[in-house]
Amino acid sequence: MAEPLIKVEPTPAAVAEEAARRIVAAYEESIELKGRFSLALAGGSTPKLLYERLAAEPYRDQIDWTKVHVYFGDERCVPPDHAESNYRMAREALLSVVPIPLDNVNRMRGELEPEAAAREYGLLLKEHFGDAGCDVVLLGMGDDGHTASLFPDTAALRETEHRCVANFVPKLDTWRITMTAPFINRAWQVMVLVTGAGKAERLRQVLEEKPDPNQTPIRLIDPEIGKMVWVMDAAAAGMDEA
Ligand code: 6PG
Repeated sequence: MAEPLIKVEPTPAAVAEEAARRIVAAYEESIELKGRFSLALAGGSTPKLLYERLAAEPYRDQIDWTKVHVYFGDERCVPPDHAESNYRMAREALLSVVPIPLDNVNRMRGELEPEAAAREYGLLLKEHFGDAGCDVVLLGMGDDGHTASLFPDTAALRETEHRCVANFVPKLDTWRITMTAPFINRAWQVMVLVTGAGKAERLRQVLEEKPDPNQTPIRLIDPEIGKMVWVMDAAAAGMDEA
């Protein structure tokens, strides 16, 4: 498995710019190869700047949105209009701004009972991808080393068969729906966006010490044949002056 590429940008805005540029490049390759592009969006707050950037010039018009198929790496178990919904954040920042057909947006239905939502989404991923994966999977990282909704010491980390599972997260006392590491690792490109000094120490551990994946789940992410790109700001890279 290839060594990850690490890109350090000065600010969160520059991280969004670099990620947008990379997504358009990946889009162009996929359209050339197969006439469509599949992109799994990350939740949380970090990717919001990226989504807003993709929805604006020049990137917006560099993409034929009718050829883009959007998925979600994970979702909270809430309705799509809930303040905590990853879909709602993506819809407000990107999906309601660009001319992407509704049918091209594949939402995890967080309003359903968790197991039902996960089963439904796993079947959708199987139908859409078979044994392949997404062209690009966007991920974030929590300061505990979680990614998507793969949290430390949770059952989803041990999933080897399903593409999507419901995962109970004791520290949050809540259920989540998440793509699994085996499915994420089938991607042609996994792009991890990390910003802020609060994540610097965890990020250093992940990149330099190779800690136990059960305690640092993002260590499970290692594309089988695709590439892994970390795009971080100077603060997360520990380069900010004290
Ligand atoms: C979620 C995300 C999650 C996120 C990290 C980082 O549903 O919360 O998918 O994995 O990427 O928690 O979140 P921030 O970007 O808000 O720091």
